[in-house]
Amino acid sequence: MYSTLIFLHSLTRWLVVISLTYAIYRGYTGFKFQKTFTKTDNAVRHWTATIAHIQLIIGILVYTQSPSIKYFWKHTREALRNWDVTFYSLVHALIMLLAIVLLTVGSAKSKRMPTDPEKFKTMLIWFFIAFMLIFIAIPWPFSPLSNRPFFR
Ligand code: HEM
Repeated sequence: MYSTLIFLHSLTRWLVVISLTYAIYRGYTGFKFQKTFTKTDNAVRHWTATIAHIQLIIGILVYTQSPSIKYFWKHTREALRNWDVTFYSLVHALIMLLAIVLLTVGSAKSKRMPTDPEKFKTMLIWFFIAFMLIFIAIPWPFSPLSNRPFFR
């Protein structure tokens, strides 16, 4: 069960990264070249937020099942001296939560903007900030914070 969740959480990370990159690209080109905010742009905005929400749910499930998170909440004082355990228990979870909140707010705001340039600009700014936070908090094999493989 736990290894399946970790596998899914690791895999969905790529969907989050790819969809966000594409949405930011469409936001940037749409704003810069004064394009019309099409149905496709709206679908990209919607699905990017939905994929992030799916990852949030998997993340919460991983959090409730992880042996190291259980250890953290049982022996917090001792566990705080272990950076890797502290990283997932607090830093990773909180930064990702914040990023997904920002992404959700950005998606909702973009949807409600009255003009197409405003829709693109709002999506671009909020999604870009969320992307930065997510990129920093992902345990890439090259990350100085914590390392996990590219694929499980
Ligand atoms: C966009 C959001 C997120 C992304 C891209 C993401 C990505 C990742 C990746 C790539 C890993 C390493 C998986 C592996 O071991 O191969 C990981 C681990 C983990 N994530 Fe996330 N995550 C996100 C959100 C969350 C959230 C919101 C939570 C909790 C509320 C969470 C909890 C965890 C935990 C507990 C682990 C490590 C478990 C362990 O090693 O025992 N993640 N995450």
